[in-house]
Amino acid sequence: MKDHTIDITLSSTKKQKPESDQLVFGRVFTDHMFIMDYTEGKGWHDPRIIPYQPIILDPASMIFHYGQSVFEGLKAYLTKDEQVLLFRPDKNMQRLNKSNDRLCIPRIDEELALDALKQLIMIDRDWIPGAEGTSLYIRPFIIATEPFLGVAPSKSYQFIIILSPVGSYYKEGIHPVKIAVESEFVRAVSGGTGTAKTGGNYAASLRAQEVATDKGYSQVLWLDGVEKKYIEEVGSMNIFFKINGEVITPSLNGSILEGVTRNSIIQLLKHWNIPVTERKISMDEIYDAYSNGLLEEAFGTGTAAVISPIGEFFWRDEKLVINNGQTGQLSKKLYDTLTGIQKGTEPDPFDWVVEVK
Ligand code: COI
Repeated sequence: MKDHTIDITLSSTKKQKPESDQLVFGRVFTDHMFIMDYTEGKGWHDPRIIPYQPIILDPASMIFHYGQSVFEGLKAYLTKDEQVLLFRPDKNMQRLNKSNDRLCIPRIDEELALDALKQLIMIDRDWIPGAEGTSLYIRPFIIATEPFLGVAPSKSYQFIIILSPVGSYYKEGIHPVKIAVESEFVRAVSGGTGTAKTGGNYAASLRAQEVATDKGYSQVLWLDGVEKKYIEEVGSMNIFFKINGEVITPSLNGSILEGVTRNSIIQLLKHWNIPVTERKISMDEIYDAYSNGLLEEAFGTGTAAVISPIGEFFWRDEKLVINNGQTGQLSKKLYDTLTGIQKGTEPDPFDWVVEVK
């Protein structure tokens, strides 16, 4: 490993930690953070771990005006024998650089970022909750900091990592959610920024989400931005269907985020010899499968919720109730296996888990 000297300043005070059974998603943050600057001509410099604190930015900073930013999300888990495990963290750092490329943000050194992340976790390791369904959510992100109102890539940036002890992302946990199929708004189009993890994609999703919530639905099902026919994602997650014994997920078509959980589910299914296909799939096809009694399960996948079973779709004034609104057997098995691998209670045939020491 290269020598990345990360300067460390420890906090003189410690915040009170929430009880493990009180944890929600992303509301409390640990005692420290990682930060590193980028200056044109100098590159990324001054990597440091400091007490968690507000950052001071010029109001003209480009992040506030044109949204040049990227982020990642991954989790650290505490095992029963107090080991600290990360799940495929290299994948997140690779994706961060892919997002950087799309948003014209200078690439980071993935090895340095991983090293920083590990050091930060070990400094705040007392914050990793151990209770069932909890973990330490890790949020690396990069923002454009140059004070300038011209539309151009910023000449300065900050790369920051913050940590948050979390419970389940949806209040439903592993219980099925109700989804409204979105026929007006779209999340992304091919050639746009849908494949990058950038804040604007999430901002663009809020209006549809608000309308769905008002109607009693947890999330929306996103259709393609051209014909509004083909399925892309669900809420902020990738989506899978089980139809007549075969698992189908939309192929990565240039507007869908390349989820680490998505990729892991595909590999697990192949390992179990369950047929899994990545292809275009339309809402009409889902409706036909449903009408013929062949739509067995549907679920979203993402780091935050891992697996989120879908109990109902609302489409064209009709309710499509899946598996009697119950969590399907495969969804449950995938959830148990993946969270088991992540927490070190299930074998890890793919060497996905990395111990932090
Ligand atoms: C995920 O991990 O599933 C997400 O993308 C949600 C995150 C934006 C909170």
